[in-house]
Amino acid sequence: MSHLQAHQTAVQLRGVSKVYRQGKTDVRALDNLSLSIPIGQFVAIMGASGSGKSTLLHLIAGLTAPSSGTLALFGQALNSLNDNALTVFRRRQIGFIFQAFNLLPTMTALENVCLPLLMDGKPLAAIRPKAMRLLEQVGLADRQQHRPDELSGGQQQRVAIARALINDAALLLGDEPTGNLDSKTGEDVLQLLRELVNEQGRTLILVTHDPKAAAYADRIITLSDGRILEQLGALDALPHA
Ligand SMILES: Nc1ncnc2c1ncn2[C@@H]1O[C@H](COP(=O)(O)OP(=O)(O)OP(=O)(O)O)[C@@H](O)[C@H]1O
Ligand SMILES: [Mg+2]
Repeated sequence: MSHLQAHQTAVQLRGVSKVYRQGKTDVRALDNLSLSIPIGQFVAIMGASGSGKSTLLHLIAGLTAPSSGTLALFGQALNSLNDNALTVFRRRQIGFIFQAFNLLPTMTALENVCLPLLMDGKPLAAIRPKAMRLLEQVGLADRQQHRPDELSGGQQQRVAIARALINDAALLLGDEPTGNLDSKTGEDVLQLLRELVNEQGRTLILVTHDPKAAAYADRIITLSDGRILEQLGALDALPHA
């Protein structure tokens, strides 16, 4: 993470639009968005269903490319990376908690958590203790050997959270990561994420419908029809915000 911290800005979007072509109609999911998120900021993204929240998060993760505009993470322009370099960049710098979890059904909880580092060529023996510690932190110490279909929705979500944390990513992205959790478990997870930001200077972008979850953030950005409707938060006063 250290060489990346030379840059002050974790996420920089300039005039980003995303248009999905659906037969003859175009859906403008993001409309000319400009946004700057400094390193170490916890940002909540809110807005109605269909307002573009997941699209924005997928763009920031480099999972989909903008139709126009530019996007840089820690000073690195994503469109200047080829597919392979982008995959490696994503695997090392980004932890993503998907709205639909995206756990591998044939793998145990523990193996799912280990996966990002296994794919990066690290030996399982070296990863295991850390994966077990993360599962403990999300309250699943006794579910390591369960497969996703043997876990409740909230438990699967917590496995997905542990998996997103295994690579010590500088940038954490969560799409409704507490949406399936009861309020106590949800608060524990938000507290854990808040601590990662406070103590380790990670940058966190969290999509949520829940004002209580958004209250953990330094800044709240509300989307409406693919545009920024409003921004709340003390750090907006900074010149780069
Ligand atoms: N792959 C796609 N193809 C076509 N249209 C899409 C695609 N993905 C999203 N859209 C459209 O883009 C718009 C934004 O979708 P997005 O998933 O970003 O919304 P969202 O804010 O995450 O909503 P939710 O709160 O329901 O998850 C919607 O109108 C949606 O129908
Ligand atoms: Mg969504």
